[in-house]
Amino acid sequence: MQNTVVDLMKSHRSIRKFTAKPLSREIQEKILTAAISASSSSFVQCVSIIRVVNKDKREKLVTLTGNQPYVGNAAEFWVFCIDYARHQKIVPKGCYGYTEQVILGAVDAGIMGQNALLAAESLSLGGVFIGGIRNNPLEVCKLLELPCQVFPLMGLCLGYPEESPECKPRLPVDIFVHEDRYQSLDRDALDQYDQQVREYYKNRTNNKKDNSWSDDIEAKLAKEARPFMQNALKEQGFMTVI
Ligand SMILES: Cc1cc2nc3c(=O)[nH]c(=O)nc-3n(C[C@H](O)[C@H](O)[C@H](O)COP(=O)(O)O)c2cc1C
Repeated sequence: MQNTVVDLMKSHRSIRKFTAKPLSREIQEKILTAAISASSSSFVQCVSIIRVVNKDKREKLVTLTGNQPYVGNAAEFWVFCIDYARHQKIVPKGCYGYTEQVILGAVDAGIMGQNALLAAESLSLGGVFIGGIRNNPLEVCKLLELPCQVFPLMGLCLGYPEESPECKPRLPVDIFVHEDRYQSLDRDALDQYDQQVREYYKNRTNNKKDNSWSDDIEAKLAKEARPFMQNALKEQGFMTVI
C-alpha cells in the first residue's frame, strides 16, 4: 500500500549543500506552522526558535559550531531552544531549575525540530540538524541574547538542495525494537549491519571511507561528550535544584 508520508520519511538524508535560493515567507510559515503543531509534554510549550538572519551572527555561528560552512550559507538557520523564560513571566514564583524540565524541553524541541525538517522535505527542501550549537553554548547564549531559562539545543539548516546524497542505512528494526523485555544485542545482526554500512561508506558519492558503524561508535565514545554541559545549563538557570 502506497503511503507518501511514510515514503518521504524513509527517503530522509541530511543535506549540507544548498543553492542560494531563499525560502519565501509563505514556505517559512508553512514549515513553522507544521513545527509548532507537534505534541507538547503537558502542553507546556517550552520551546523557542531563533531564526538567525543577521550575516555577522551567522558567520560567528559557523565558528562556534565547529566550522560548519552550511550554518553560514543555508537559506535559513534556526536555533531550537528550551524556553521557560516565558513561563517565568506568567508564573514568577513557579518551580524552576529541575533536571526534568531540561528533559521535557529537549524532548519537545526534538519533536518540533523533526516536524520542521519533515515539512521542509515535503516541500522539496532539505536540511541538517546542528548539534554543534552546543559546542560553545554560553557564547551562543550571548550572541543570541538568550536570557536565563533559555538554552540552545540544536540548530537546523534549511534550503534548496544542491546535492543528492544516498540514504544512510539504519540499524535493523529488530535491534532497535524489543518485545516485553530488554533483549541483548544480536551480534550476527550487528555484523551484517556493520558490513552494510562499510559498503555504503565505500560506495557513496562524497566522503568515501572504509569503516563500519561499530568503528564510528568506537571513535565517538573514545571522546568526552561536552563535559561542560552541566555547568552551562546551570549558568542559564537549569539544573539548579535537582
Ligand atoms: C540532534 C542532531 C544533531 C546533529 N548535528 C549535526 C551537526 O552538528 N553537523 C552535521 O553535519 N550533522 C549533524 N547531524 C546530522 C547527523 O550526522 C545525521 O542525521 C546522521 O549522520 C544520519 O545521516 P542522515 O541524516 O543523512 O540519515 C545531527 C543530527 C541530529 C539528529
